[in-house]
Amino acid sequence: MNQATWTALDDYITDRFVPADPVLAAALADSAAADLPPHHVAPPQGKLLHLLARLMGARRILELGTLGAYSTIWLARALPPGGRVITLEFSPKHAAVARGNITRAGLDDVIELREGAAIDSLAQLVAEGAEPFDLIFIDADKPNNPAYVRGALQLARPGTLLILDNVVRNGGILDPASDAPGVQGTRDALDLLAAEPRVSATALQTVGSKGWDGFALALVIA
Ligand code: SAH
Ligand code: DHB
Ligand code: MG
Repeated sequence: MNQATWTALDDYITDRFVPADPVLAAALADSAAADLPPHHVAPPQGKLLHLLARLMGARRILELGTLGAYSTIWLARALPPGGRVITLEFSPKHAAVARGNITRAGLDDVIELREGAAIDSLAQLVAEGAEPFDLIFIDADKPNNPAYVRGALQLARPGTLLILDNVVRNGGILDPASDAPGVQGTRDALDLLAAEPRVSATALQTVGSKGWDGFALALVIA
């Protein structure tokens, strides 16, 4: 078992279950051409996010960490007419690429990209009295994950699903003394979810083209 096998198997799954899509392909191509880091979810994971959103009948989705809007487009395409994604991105460069990809996808009226630090945008959404979101995908800078979980809980209702990406990091989160960036933040976020009576949570390890990583899922129950 090695990375080449995991990637080949992701390709095998993608061949079967993720139809070739010029809009998503162009979003990845433009992201790569602009030198954005290759941190987008893998195609089978994008489809999983899409299916989870459909399964829930999500109408309002919040995303932290847009990058080139690859996951954003997958999520937006799960919405019924009138649904909305708000996606938060700190980097003006990433936001510019994302805007181009969103426009090409024909999703300008569905996706609202808010530029700035996600901490500030979360506080702004709370201050605005934003309606609760149905699904919140947390995939920005990992050191802030505890603050993102707390912010997400303020914008949730019973029935909201929180999804955190990158909770395994090649096993890195097993090391309580790790100084790798993001490990402490993700460990603290998982501990916070474990101790939070408002959620019922689990986490799943994944392998694939993104290596060995994982998602945490937390259903808000109160
Ligand atoms: N969800 C995307 C990948 C996001 S990568 C996908 O799967 O397609 C993480 C993104 O978080 C990067 O674009 C990075 O610029 C952004 N980011 C980093 N720090 C941030 C912050 N403080 N606030 C908001 N976004 C941030
Ligand atoms: C990184 C961030 C991500 O969101 C991801 O899915 C993969 C890698 C990173 O910062 O290294
Ligand atoms: Mg990620």
